[in-house]
Amino acid sequence: MDRYAVLGWPAAHSKSPPMQRRFAEQTGQRMTYEAIEIRPEALADALKRFHAEGWKGFNITLPHKLAVVALCERVSARACIAGAANCLLRTEAGWSGDNTDGEGLIRDLHNQGMPVRGRRVLVLGAGGAARGVLKPLLDEKPAELTLSSRNPWKPEEIAQQFKPYGAIRPCTHLALKGDRYDLIVNATSAGHSGQIPRLPGQLVAEGGACYDLSYGTAFEPFRAWAQEQHAEKIADGLGMLVEQGAASFELWRGMRPQTADVIRRLRAGA
Ligand SMILES: NC(=O)c1ccc[n+]([C@@H]2O[C@H](COP(=O)([O-])OP(=O)(O)OC[C@H]3O[C@@H](n4cnc5c(N)ncnc54)[C@H](OP(=O)(O)O)[C@@H]3O)[C@@H](O)[C@H]2O)c1
Repeated sequence: MDRYAVLGWPAAHSKSPPMQRRFAEQTGQRMTYEAIEIRPEALADALKRFHAEGWKGFNITLPHKLAVVALCERVSARACIAGAANCLLRTEAGWSGDNTDGEGLIRDLHNQGMPVRGRRVLVLGAGGAARGVLKPLLDEKPAELTLSSRNPWKPEEIAQQFKPYGAIRPCTHLALKGDRYDLIVNATSAGHSGQIPRLPGQLVAEGGACYDLSYGTAFEPFRAWAQEQHAEKIADGLGMLVEQGAASFELWRGMRPQTADVIRRLRAGA
């Protein structure tokens, strides 16, 4: 049996094992998938050991997504641009790192009927997840892409770095006052502490949509804010999670699983 796992600290709560097992069942693949908790300081040795033991691939979750890049033998262009990897594939020489988060977001936005092309798009937060989704968002040709965070420096640095792929307007959350957006993507982790970034009101344009990368209870503060702002469509990041997992599965097994039923089951807690 080919062996796969998600590596994180913590990892026990991860929805990846039930999700990847369903993909395997659905496509008739003989593989195992589990969650393994690895402390940050143990990651490098663990990856060497897993390679020697013949493991085929991994998903990488917090807090290892950035650190794992330096431990890869090869890194895909999209992982390199994001500066983070969420998926490792075995090669004879070592691990090849890739990043399927952006692809997962774009597919789920499409599933949700939240178009990017020609729209005014705002990304909140300038952490690892934001970096992973910016180039895929730019590739969709929005009318405008703004990146905001609590301080101006991170968005400015990122906007400079992403210049070859398209224009990003960097600013602070508070400097958004007076702007209107057709799509607001929350890529902050504020929801995990029951918060949302401090934002001016009336940011959502008429008919606009709000998407949160977080899901579960971490989605609730942003959902409440989006409702207050009269967003026409509001979605959490569970669909993105499943789509990035399906993209990882395809990299490992060479076939794309169906996602709609898996999203439904995870949402129902099954
Ligand atoms: N659905 C999926 O598949 C998926 C995939 C990846 C990530 N995610 C989710 O995306 C979120 C971000 O992940 P990440 O890896 O980017 O984390 P990260 O690198 O730690 O970045 C977190 C960002 O959140 C901001 N932030 C944290 N607390 C805040 C607060 N109280 N108010 C305002 N901003 C705050 C930080 O802001 P500053 O820049 O202002 O300091 C930073 O930019 C997490 O909730 C994660 O679970 C979901």
